[in-house]
Amino acid sequence: MQTIYTDLLVVGAGLAGERAAVEAADAGFSAICLSLVPARRSHSSAAQGGMQASLGNSVMGKGDGPDVHFEDTVKGSDWGCDQEVARMFADTAPIEMRRLAHWGVPWNRVVPGKSIYYKGGKQFEKVEEEDKEGLIMARSFGGTAKWRTCYTSDGTGHAVMCTMDNRCAQAGVEVHDKTEAIALIQDGDTCYGVVARCLRTGDLRVYLSKATMIAAGGFGRIYPNTTNAVICDGGAHTMCVDTGVVPMGNMEAVQFHPTGIVPTDILVTEGCRGDGGTLLDVNEKRFMHEYEPDKAELASRDVVSRWMTHHMREGHGVKSPYGEHLWLDIRHLGEEHITGKLREVYEICTYFLGVNPIHELIPVRPTQHYSMGGVRTNRDGAAYGVKGLFAAGEAACWDMHGFNRLGGNSLAETVVAGGIVGKKIAEYLEGCETEFKTALINDVVKLQKQRIDDLVTSANGSENVYKVRKSMQDALNKGANIFRTKDGLEECVSSLQETLIRAKNVGLRSNGRGVNPELAVALKLEGQVRMALMVAYGALQRTESRGSHNREDFPARNDRDWLNRTLAYWKNADDTLPTLEYEPATEVVEIPPGDRGYGKSEIISADDKKE
Ligand code: FUM
Repeated sequence: MQTIYTDLLVVGAGLAGERAAVEAADAGFSAICLSLVPARRSHSSAAQGGMQASLGNSVMGKGDGPDVHFEDTVKGSDWGCDQEVARMFADTAPIEMRRLAHWGVPWNRVVPGKSIYYKGGKQFEKVEEEDKEGLIMARSFGGTAKWRTCYTSDGTGHAVMCTMDNRCAQAGVEVHDKTEAIALIQDGDTCYGVVARCLRTGDLRVYLSKATMIAAGGFGRIYPNTTNAVICDGGAHTMCVDTGVVPMGNMEAVQFHPTGIVPTDILVTEGCRGDGGTLLDVNEKRFMHEYEPDKAELASRDVVSRWMTHHMREGHGVKSPYGEHLWLDIRHLGEEHITGKLREVYEICTYFLGVNPIHELIPVRPTQHYSMGGVRTNRDGAAYGVKGLFAAGEAACWDMHGFNRLGGNSLAETVVAGGIVGKKIAEYLEGCETEFKTALINDVVKLQKQRIDDLVTSANGSENVYKVRKSMQDALNKGANIFRTKDGLEECVSSLQETLIRAKNVGLRSNGRGVNPELAVALKLEGQVRMALMVAYGALQRTESRGSHNREDFPARNDRDWLNRTLAYWKNADDTLPTLEYEPATEVVEIPPGDRGYGKSEIISADDKKE
């Protein structure tokens, strides 16, 4: 069996992973990124609208700065975030944006003179200043006091991903693609790398590393309707869950983006609304300003998605063979704007919907988009529970997003966290002496070989892999969606517990060990169902509403009892539920909990007495 040694092993080759790898490589360490797909096809490249950083170059960003960005982020999180992390992020984001420009990202730039902008469908004029000519431009995004989302049209992720991958090549970072990590090599105390599977040949490889980083993105594919790519299936998370000692943070915090297109759920960017697009109902009437008079379509995502769902429940949705939806209207932005600054949206609508958004309305509905939860880490990106294991980006719960992430804060987080955590990893590697224990490595390899042997010879198993996965997705969709209740969550948990039993008894119809999607799904299925249980059970226990976690039976945010972060463990393989523990949401409080300024504000404060 091939054994490969590296100082830093990154599971994932998206923006967070590659940014960290560059940092380690520039400090003189070897770094390898594993990826299911060629790096430039990582899900980071699907990010459209932009990255928040308080550069304040546009006239609409005047007065912006890290303090304002920090405040927006904390409010956006509904006070669920670690404020120290949010502070580090807001302070560092402008530096990273300029660094990206230096590395080659072709940001849209300020053009001085009169500019026509839109808000809520209405035109207005602003004059961009002469002395800002050529500086990085920003657009408006939801939940922000200023325009601060830096962008390259609506292909920001794509542009930054290509630039970062070039930078990796320059720095000597290796990317091993079509390779899937399937188990951590760890002894309950320290992580020594992973066992990985070549997705072409099925061969197993051992990767030994002094530091191992999880940067494989989110796990949206445990839901049936999501903007996430098929590779965002939580496979890397399941390796951490399997350790029994590495907790997942805030798994119940799941974000639904207001504008997935119907029926495919592909994202059309918040930039559409930021640039002045509006949401319309079945009567082609705007409605968001009636619920949110101040922010309207640009309240934070959790709020907009809830109002959209509420509006459809009230009978104002458009019926279609693919379920109900609303409309996104960008027609008034005009052809030049749409084929320029929103050209991916134009192409997505044209090729996936057969809709021309210059002249026609776009059918949209809220759809799963982002996992605020993930591998719980400290501020240095070090995972709880096991030394030598790190995480960053969407895969991690670092935790700057709390219970709702602002649009444009995740793409920015990938490079900010990647840079910060990469530096910390380089410090960790400095002076790190590791002994690789052959007995441990052999045990892990043996177990994985056995697991694969059992699966490829499991034709007698009674359960179909895809049907089991579908029942997990359907249970979450029904019970752990935008609106949640005790009854719905209890039903969801019990259905997932049944699904977990089924997942242990799958029978594969194919016995190939190489290119075999059924095997790839089967290898992570039990782990995915455990993660789904972490989402649903965490949501059931959290008897309050905070950010994206909305309990109809507990509509108020309850800072008295719930200003904390959930830590979910799967301690023993035979457990039927996760073990939940809690820790304070933040140690440093720069901004005490208060009103977000949008959304319905019912708050039980820390000072309220218990009845
Ligand atoms: O709508 C968007 O462009 C998505 C951005 C994000 O999730 O941050």
